[in-house]
Amino acid sequence: MITLPGLIDTHVHLREPGATHKEDFETGTSAAVAGGYTTVLDMPNNPEPTITPGALQRKINLATKRIYSDVGFHFGATINSSQYFQQIKDKVFGLKVYMNHTTGTLLQEDPKILQIIFEKWPKDKVLMVHAEGETLQKAIDLARKNNNKLHVCHVSLASEIRLIQQAKVQGLSISCEVTAHHLFLTKNDAKRLGVFGMMRPPLENPDVLWKAIADRTIDMIASDHAPHTKEEKLGPNPPNGVPGLETTLPLLLTAAYEGKLTIEDIIRLCHTNPAKIFNIPVQKDTFVEIDPTIRYTLYARRLYTKCKWTPFQGKRVKGKVKRVVLRGQTIFKDGEIIGNPRGKVISPL
Ligand code: NCD
Ligand code: ZN
Ligand code: ZN
Ligand code: ZN
Repeated sequence: MITLPGLIDTHVHLREPGATHKEDFETGTSAAVAGGYTTVLDMPNNPEPTITPGALQRKINLATKRIYSDVGFHFGATINSSQYFQQIKDKVFGLKVYMNHTTGTLLQEDPKILQIIFEKWPKDKVLMVHAEGETLQKAIDLARKNNNKLHVCHVSLASEIRLIQQAKVQGLSISCEVTAHHLFLTKNDAKRLGVFGMMRPPLENPDVLWKAIADRTIDMIASDHAPHTKEEKLGPNPPNGVPGLETTLPLLLTAAYEGKLTIEDIIRLCHTNPAKIFNIPVQKDTFVEIDPTIRYTLYARRLYTKCKWTPFQGKRVKGKVKRVVLRGQTIFKDGEIIGNPRGKVISPL
């Protein structure tokens, strides 16, 4: 048996309110726990985005008593939402700025508005960007000018890695995450998977990302758990995004078995660094028991996520979550969620 601390995923889309046909607080946090995560941070790009104190409070109310893992929230950036930054800053973990097209309505492209957003967000709190390729340069320039604590979501390109390495050398406060799908799937998989391998940013060459894990340019692994239904994926306007909460850890354990990283790396990338960067509260008596010897196959029908599909269908993995203990109580054992929802809505330290 291997014992891990409760893992932390700083980038998930639990979809409630507004898209509970894709996921909700119960199914999404069940998936989190089954995947070894005891803390997840939820993104603001709902149909009613988290861009007002009222929308944030509604999420908090909806989540209370229905979550199996702890859940914290991110706030969405718009010109209008910037008036609330001071009011909500202690309740959220980060501000999310969408600088490229993706799911939702939060795209910000106007340089004047972006400048105001970066200027107004508190400098000691994380400002997260969806900024692909060339756009990342803009985000870094804005963060340099305004002294922000920048976090780059789902890096996928060699050019992005280079920009982040440069910024780190120059002493900027910058961190970044990579997803399991960008690490374990290739452009060939994208062809094979069709719409079920479609996400933003698209699949690229994983080799550069593995190198960036090895040289510690990458600070954390996040799932970007972005469930959509099969019907939506097969419909006329397939949305971008794939689920990931229940497949990330088994894939990482398999990579550890194959010598691509160590268990210590997994703890640093999925617990210690996210906790430090996002000021996540410590969970007492909380851990995840792994049986590293169990080989099994990832199957969608065994998943708790409401969307019931995975781009990793049929993949052989080694290493399984046996038990999850949250604040001294077993909440997951041998594939089953145990007891009532014991997760809490959390705010940063
Ligand atoms: C995400 C979603 O569906 O909410 N989709 C995706 O392809 N990654 C949005 C996002 O994280 O960009
Ligand atoms: Zn994104
Ligand atoms: Zn996302
Ligand atoms: Zn810890």
